[in-house]
Amino acid sequence: MALHVSLVGRTDLSGEIYRQIRQAILDRRLRPGERLPPTRELATALSVSRSTVTVAYESLLAEGFATSHTGSGTFVSHHLETKRPASKTRRSTVRAIQVRGVWETIPLPTGFNRAARFDFRTGLPDASLFPHRAWRRVVAGALRSREMAAGVYENTAGNWDLRAAIARHIGISRSVSGSPDDVIVTNGTQQALDIIARVLLEPGDVVAVEQPGYLPPKQLFKALGARVIGVPVDSEGLVVEALPAEARLVYVTPSHQYPLGVAMSLSRRRALLAWAERHNAVVVEDDYDSEFRFGGRPLEPLQTIDTTGRVVYVGTFSKTLLPTLRLGFMVVPRSLRETANKAKHVTDWHTATIAQSALAQFIDEGAFARHIRRVSRTYGERHEMLTAAIKRNFCDCLDLIPSSTGLHIAAYARRASIDHIDAIASRAFDLGVAIHPFRVGEEPQGIMLGYGAIETARIAEGLRRLRRCFDEHMSRRLKVA
Ligand SMILES: Cc1ncc(COP(=O)(O)O)c(C=O)c1O
Repeated sequence: MALHVSLVGRTDLSGEIYRQIRQAILDRRLRPGERLPPTRELATALSVSRSTVTVAYESLLAEGFATSHTGSGTFVSHHLETKRPASKTRRSTVRAIQVRGVWETIPLPTGFNRAARFDFRTGLPDASLFPHRAWRRVVAGALRSREMAAGVYENTAGNWDLRAAIARHIGISRSVSGSPDDVIVTNGTQQALDIIARVLLEPGDVVAVEQPGYLPPKQLFKALGARVIGVPVDSEGLVVEALPAEARLVYVTPSHQYPLGVAMSLSRRRALLAWAERHNAVVVEDDYDSEFRFGGRPLEPLQTIDTTGRVVYVGTFSKTLLPTLRLGFMVVPRSLRETANKAKHVTDWHTATIAQSALAQFIDEGAFARHIRRVSRTYGERHEMLTAAIKRNFCDCLDLIPSSTGLHIAAYARRASIDHIDAIASRAFDLGVAIHPFRVGEEPQGIMLGYGAIETARIAEGLRRLRRCFDEHMSRRLKVA
């Protein structure tokens, strides 16, 4: 890599070259053993004479920062203590730039920092089931694609073949109506929501979200200056009568409410669409994990039932494939299409081409549908095991919420406060079991158990350990009482 040395406005050129290279060594920008540029090359790059650079290098050699090997060049010394010195300037400038106050209220995510042997965290598919061989093949194909050869920016909405493949796939699997022109490929759900919010919301506009609900969208809307209002959820999904009349946008997870896992009833779906029409609001339907179904009849998506063009349907490949791919999409009503494309353009122009072409081929040749069928069998088995075990072994402390979709189940812990649940989750983690608690604000609250990431063979032992945590906690409470 070219070494940056700035001599603009300097007089002692050799001294300056020496000082800047020394600093780069101390900061570890130049690492031990790394070769310094040949004197002739650096002299040309800096428009100085070769002897100016040679003098600087001699100082570095004399002070032990560099060593030279005749015929092969000058190298950063190996034996240097190059720990970054505590820099006064850096510390004193931490607060030099003021950011908007809202960011004080939004933490960095930590939920995925620590893995556990018994991993019941939600939101994760089983990475060991990912079809690596098939994926490698389609990525290799994508590297040879027309788009890669052309090397120019692509359409903001994404690769045409992928949009056509997505429109076909969701048309069949979810009865979502839309042509490839209505599809915009995004970097996951989160970017789709960002784009929708950017094109619709003025600062101070009200966004209604489910309470309890999925946190990242709530944080996103808040960060964009919206007023976010939580709306309760019951066994039929979002309580439509509780929606604030001024909501401009309603964000919902109707197929598998996050975190509770309930499906929004048909009457609620109709009521929500009627409400949106009356209040001139937009409904964002996050259909994140409904490809996995283990019983019952699927309800039609809001987007399918809607007749007024107010629903944006958002899908993701984070659960069906991997969250690290950062691939998702949205199906936008005609009236939003152009603006949403402009927003995608100013955000990041378009999603990475290789991944898009690879996925297009993967879907087109049927590998995606086969993969979903295969992993659904595994997830179905895990769903059944977990459901049965919670009903059987935790009936005194957990009320399972019926659910037959997705990659997690949830249960209310009606007799425990959220502090108790947090304490149980923390003790469980010490025993190698990761669970995510959920909170409603006031009681009741409970836990979610994801079965995407945990190996089937580990479920029973993971639940035994979790049971121990509940027992310990309950006996401690009895003693205190
Ligand atoms: C409700 C919900 N929506 C969407 C997602 C996926 O988000 P993304 O597509 O940005 O990875 C998740 C992941 O856990 C989720 O829980």
